[in-house]
Amino acid sequence: MSRITRADCEARDRADPLAPFRQRFVLPPDVVYLDGNSLGALPKAAVARLQQAVDREWGQDLIRSWNLHRWIDLPQRAGAKIGRLVGAKANEVVVADSTSVNLFKLLAAALRLKPGRRVILSEPGNFPTDLYVAQGLIDMLGGKHELKLVPGERIADAIDETVAVVSLTHVNYKSGRIHDMAAVTAKAHAAGALMLWDLCHSAGALPVDLNAAKADLAVGCGYKYLNGGPGAPAFLFVAERHQESIRPPLSGWMGHAHPFTFDIGYEPAHGIARNLCGTPPVLSMSTLDAALDVMLEADMKAIRAKSLALGELFLALVEQECGRHGFANGSAPQHERGSQVGLLHPEGYAIMQALIARGVIGDFRAPDMLRFGFAPLYNRFVDAWDAVAALKAVMDARAWDAPKFKTRAAVT
Ligand SMILES: Cc1ncc(COP(=O)(O)O)c(C=O)c1O
Repeated sequence: MSRITRADCEARDRADPLAPFRQRFVLPPDVVYLDGNSLGALPKAAVARLQQAVDREWGQDLIRSWNLHRWIDLPQRAGAKIGRLVGAKANEVVVADSTSVNLFKLLAAALRLKPGRRVILSEPGNFPTDLYVAQGLIDMLGGKHELKLVPGERIADAIDETVAVVSLTHVNYKSGRIHDMAAVTAKAHAAGALMLWDLCHSAGALPVDLNAAKADLAVGCGYKYLNGGPGAPAFLFVAERHQESIRPPLSGWMGHAHPFTFDIGYEPAHGIARNLCGTPPVLSMSTLDAALDVMLEADMKAIRAKSLALGELFLALVEQECGRHGFANGSAPQHERGSQVGLLHPEGYAIMQALIARGVIGDFRAPDMLRFGFAPLYNRFVDAWDAVAALKAVMDARAWDAPKFKTRAAVT
């Protein structure tokens, strides 16, 4: 195979149908940003929308904005937009709370829907919050239930009639490995269990079709590929067929059938709205809503094709440029992974810090993974080249081998 050059990467950028989207984002000129899988970049439209929400809606229209600017149904409006990205109907998704809180709400609701069953089934490689939330819920319910963990590749065979709900992250946060959503969901249903998917690393990164897979429940975050901003509100999905049976464990007034009659008794709203709890964070939800509009302009098939191409290019360049530096590939194979790749190296943390000092931003996942995410709306093929060139420079000069790069920060 002939050597890949930077000019080859530039040519691929020129031919890229998604290239014009890059200008829609605020990106520092001296940074190669490969961490959109953790915190998406800032869409210019989100800046304008936030300014409008602050200056006009909050500053001038004040509390009238709940009706005037429809703050009150922003969770449903933004949810409907996310529905288009994840194969759900407009009335099956709402934006609310954080992913962790939504997991709590939906796992609790799932256990109530399956009163005779005691197992929440997941995998040890799931994102820790998914496991912690399940543990906390089980503890709160008096220990009658059990969190059973089975490695991802064997999970489908472990679903039996004791399982109330199978709770999995669709795209693994480390390896990027994708579960077969339709196949696992079908297995869960065959055993009479419910299926809950965490879409944190899927929504906006690759085509997802919750309804084609007959998924029951799902959650996901707004700050990764959806570009909603740091701590952006999350979303949840409840398939229409379950919506009237769900008994929300966090029975707040925003999920009440008539919040403004101020009744003493709780009466759940019809439909997805009963999964809301308290007042929505209007400013961050407005930012997310504007970011979603940008993403909805793009073709998800083109996003997926570019994401796979960027990941493959990056791995090929690592082999070409850094082959002697001892990196192992920690990623799932191309068509089985989401929009990220991982390199394994015992000095991964220090190497990532040295890279960040050179303006190439990825992140580190313990114990030894350098993680690079590709956000096809704003990442270019030359970004892959420039990142690997910086990695080569860091490795050739052992630039990572300095005390300042070895002290762990609170966030890695
Ligand atoms: C799969 C997955 N679930 C949940 C979370 C985090 O949830 P929260 O937004 O509640 O912190 C993350 C964060 O990276 C994640 O990767």
